[in-house]
Amino acid sequence: MILETTDFLSRELRYTKKAGNVGWESPSNLAIVKYWGKYGNQLPCNPSLSITLDQAKTKTTIDYQYDPSRAGLDLEFYFENRENDAFEKRIRKYLLSIVDYFPFISHSRLIINSENSFPHSSGIASSASSMSALALCLSSIEKTLDPSSFSDDHSFFCKASFVARLGSGSACRSIYPHFALWGKSDHFYDSSDLFAKEFNAFHRVFDGLRNDILIVSKKEKSVSSSAGHSLMETNPYRSTRFDQARSRIGLLQEILNKGEVWDFGAMLESEALTLHALMMASDPSYILMEPNTISVLKAIREFRLDTKIPVFFSLDAGPNVHIISFETDRPKVTGMLESIAKYAHQNIILEDRIGAGPKEITR
Ligand code: PMV
Repeated sequence: MILETTDFLSRELRYTKKAGNVGWESPSNLAIVKYWGKYGNQLPCNPSLSITLDQAKTKTTIDYQYDPSRAGLDLEFYFENRENDAFEKRIRKYLLSIVDYFPFISHSRLIINSENSFPHSSGIASSASSMSALALCLSSIEKTLDPSSFSDDHSFFCKASFVARLGSGSACRSIYPHFALWGKSDHFYDSSDLFAKEFNAFHRVFDGLRNDILIVSKKEKSVSSSAGHSLMETNPYRSTRFDQARSRIGLLQEILNKGEVWDFGAMLESEALTLHALMMASDPSYILMEPNTISVLKAIREFRLDTKIPVFFSLDAGPNVHIISFETDRPKVTGMLESIAKYAHQNIILEDRIGAGPKEITR
């Protein structure tokens, strides 16, 4: 069954007062085929497929008190145990934008606590992990208030993914373990622009995928992701890019399925460079890579040429480099990582790998 936006609306709540707490830990993700360009309400112009990370994650807990006689949302928000007005404003706006899907929000007191596993201001985008953790918590509250709201785990995670997408597009993919696909694709009959789904038809070689993150700079980006998505509306390569991404999803499906590590790496790097080429071809044009980003990309390619070890790079919308390798090559790759740490801000390389997806926290 193909779901529509209206399938995620919640019926009027039938229950009385209730209080409790919920919690989720949810990871970040790295897109192999990138989502860059959106339409409507956070819908992607092309399908994307990502690796779910393991260590870079957000832990969110919510203490809630639902009372149908309460008029309005009463919110307290703590980031890393401190009140944070800027985050609270953003979260309040988001919560009020999704009351059609979670009507309990407008009759609740919510105390939200959120913390990231990665160092504060390391330059790692935390919106995917934080919005997915929050969406999972809200879905858990709905499930507790009305146990009949979800027919099974699939419908629970599907709604969490739908709601996470409304907070930050790429967050909808963080809901699933290993690999996730988001966006309508001819290659997947039940794919949708509204939410992501798990992609589990992958070769076991990818169980050993490593994803170390070299922090080139922790400075705020000069052009935000949402401004970058908007600039795709007038990008001269727009339609060529969307066609390329659509066909790459089909190729990637086969690559992951057959365990073709070298083709995987070639696509990963081409997607990263294409993303940044699109930025450079925007009007106005802009560059998010730093000189050290280029030094790292070149060092990785040289190491690969010299050693024939499959080590590749990827980039998000920023200067930091994701270094992709395989567990079996770890001892040799460690030496290379040490040699390029000089390009990192304070020598920071965060170790990460493919992960098993979000985890519920029971208190
Ligand atoms: O989810 P957003 O709006 O922050 O956009 C993310 C865009 C990229 O990270 C560059 C690519 C992707 O698919 O994650």
